Amino acid sequence: MNAYVGTPTSRVDGRAKVTGTAKYAGEFTANGLVHGFVVAATIPRGRIARLDTSEALRVTGVLDVLTHTHRPPLADKDEAWMDEVAPDEGSPFRPLYDDNIKFNGQPIALVVAEDWETAKFAATLVHVEYQEGAFGTDLEAGRDKAIEVQGPHKPRGDAAGALAGAAVRHEADYFIPTEHHNPMELFATTVVWDGNGRITVYDKTQGVQNVHKYLCGVFGKKPDDIRVLSPYVGGAFGSGLRPQYQVVLATLGALALKRSVRVVLTRQQMYGLGHRPATIERVGLGAKPDGTLEAVAHEATAVTSRYEDFSRNDSGWAEQLYRSPNSRYSHKLVRLDVSTPCDMRAPGAASGVCALECAMDELAVALKLDPLELRLKCYSDRDQSEDLPYTSKQLRECYARGAEAFGWSKRNPTPRSMRDDKELVGWGMATGVWEALQMPVAVRIVLTANGHAEVYCAASDIGTGTYTIVAQVAADALGLPIESISVKLADSTLPQAPVEGGSWMAASSAHAVLGAAEDIRRELARLAKTMPASPLGGVDAADVILVDGTIAKAGDKGRAVSIADAMRYGKLERIEKHKLNHFAEDKSHARNTHSAVFAEVKIDEQLGVIRVTRVVSAVAAGRILNTKTGRSQIMGGVVWGIGMALHEETVTDHRFGRIMNANIAEYHIPVNADIHDIEVIFVEERDDRINALGVKGLGEIGIVGVPAAIANAVYHATGKRIRRFPITLDKLL
Ligand code: MOS
Repeated sequence: MNAYVGTPTSRVDGRAKVTGTAKYAGEFTANGLVHGFVVAATIPRGRIARLDTSEALRVTGVLDVLTHTHRPPLADKDEAWMDEVAPDEGSPFRPLYDDNIKFNGQPIALVVAEDWETAKFAATLVHVEYQEGAFGTDLEAGRDKAIEVQGPHKPRGDAAGALAGAAVRHEADYFIPTEHHNPMELFATTVVWDGNGRITVYDKTQGVQNVHKYLCGVFGKKPDDIRVLSPYVGGAFGSGLRPQYQVVLATLGALALKRSVRVVLTRQQMYGLGHRPATIERVGLGAKPDGTLEAVAHEATAVTSRYEDFSRNDSGWAEQLYRSPNSRYSHKLVRLDVSTPCDMRAPGAASGVCALECAMDELAVALKLDPLELRLKCYSDRDQSEDLPYTSKQLRECYARGAEAFGWSKRNPTPRSMRDDKELVGWGMATGVWEALQMPVAVRIVLTANGHAEVYCAASDIGTGTYTIVAQVAADALGLPIESISVKLADSTLPQAPVEGGSWMAASSAHAVLGAAEDIRRELARLAKTMPASPLGGVDAADVILVDGTIAKAGDKGRAVSIADAMRYGKLERIEKHKLNHFAEDKSHARNTHSAVFAEVKIDEQLGVIRVTRVVSAVAAGRILNTKTGRSQIMGGVVWGIGMALHEETVTDHRFGRIMNANIAEYHIPVNADIHDIEVIFVEERDDRINALGVKGLGEIGIVGVPAAIANAVYHATGKRIRRFPITLDKLL
């Protein structure tokens, strides 16, 4: 039955991507297409006193300069789309809305011209005078003004008291800087004007229906007036979860000029779209001398903007992971003059678990315990925060398999004790955890009499492999070769799907496909059984399967009718089924994915240069739908973790409230030379409870735990504990 599910099936869209036939938002074109270029504010807070566009307008080829005083009307109805990904409190940023400046880099005008170069040049001729306001952009300077937004969630016992009285205690602040997503593809929107006031919007987004709803609200349009497509996305990592301002600007341009308009942001402008907020993670751990935990206290203090309160679960993970009679966690925000943070790969967990797992390592040192031994001593088979069993949890097996593959037992616990010629060698480990979420997703499958099936769904494929897994699941469920399946995604007119994020799309879309395929199977079974002299006569419809292009008795391929014959008999050109997935409501179990990460670093003792020479990531995430794309997901997460540990930091000059390294020359991310051996182990994890296929999702678990494993390895190599990320060589010298 499973010819494709669980196998290393190559990406069905791989050829389109590497040959350039896959088109991205900024590559669509139209007759008479014109180009918008964004003018950005150069102060972090205040108002626009004067905006002079006359010189820009005099440039040949410039068609218009849109500003807050000169633009088509904008409604305030842009909150309806604030589903699961937007901040709980505040009002979203509205480009060209009024004269208020809320962050440095905020768009304040859109120059529209016949070509991009002209628009870009004319943008330099837009003259702005500001009334500057007092501002703050520094988390650490604003820490004392933090407000608590997530109270201690069911604190257990008396964490403060137990911590104070613990035999062995570790308490420290860990600083995670602001980080930016930096997807390869620039944010872009091409709005195609069809002449009747209707528009087709090609947008870089993780959710076309979300953008559709948003644009209808913002521009007071009817659903049929706007269609949003995003067939391919060149990475987004959370920055495309919310509709971003370029889609509004391109639409404003199209409405103002009644022409097709494309807006592509520059790399620098993308630093105004949201970010992983800087956080100060304060972790306190108290233990008995034997290493059993007495207290866990985790308080995160994070940046948010002045206009929205964005917060994620940074500090609740210890509660779930580790057995401790006393625990408390809280989340505080400091409102600063920056754009609102947004989700970035494993939001909350990437930062919070990094701090927690560094703290666990420090506690292990204080206890003179092996760090892996400490994790096992505190292991919890239940989610303690809710006191629930898990649908499945093979973390223990992750530790065992990861440690074995890495050779952890050969570790000399003494810092600076391991060497490779001139380099210090360090081995560190950490735990990873993420949620296994599922969302409502619908698909439509059209099976045609020639044995071809098309699967339609509004879901995006943000590079994670949605096209491929949808094709795999459909091929298996319909008993067809994968070449006979076409998948159409990311069009707002297709069956419903939420934004693609949170690692929920694989399980969610797969089960929608299963549901629709099951309806097709039933219809074909009914048809086949009624054919004259049917070999399936007398066979229970429930025992009829679709396999090798036939409708057959399960376990007896001899009793079969070809799908084509059955459809011809039924005079059916096509069978079309639309299905919303269904997951049984089950609040009796916790659902999480887990990992154990082991890292080796080699550090040049004189220069402090750090190389991550080996990473082993052992992951338990239920059934792996595609072991090839799945492995790529985890490898990508590990690379992100290396970046978070050693490279990534958005640097702001707080005197100007301006990001100083808004480019990928100075915002460092790992390059090929930084990446060495990465081994991914999928630990078998059967989960019959979570959903029919036992799928948990993989997008985010890959990064969680990696930065801490590396930081812990750096400590082991050097004896230096760096609690301020990223760990750059200057901090080691
Ligand atoms: Mo991801 S941060 O859920 O796009």
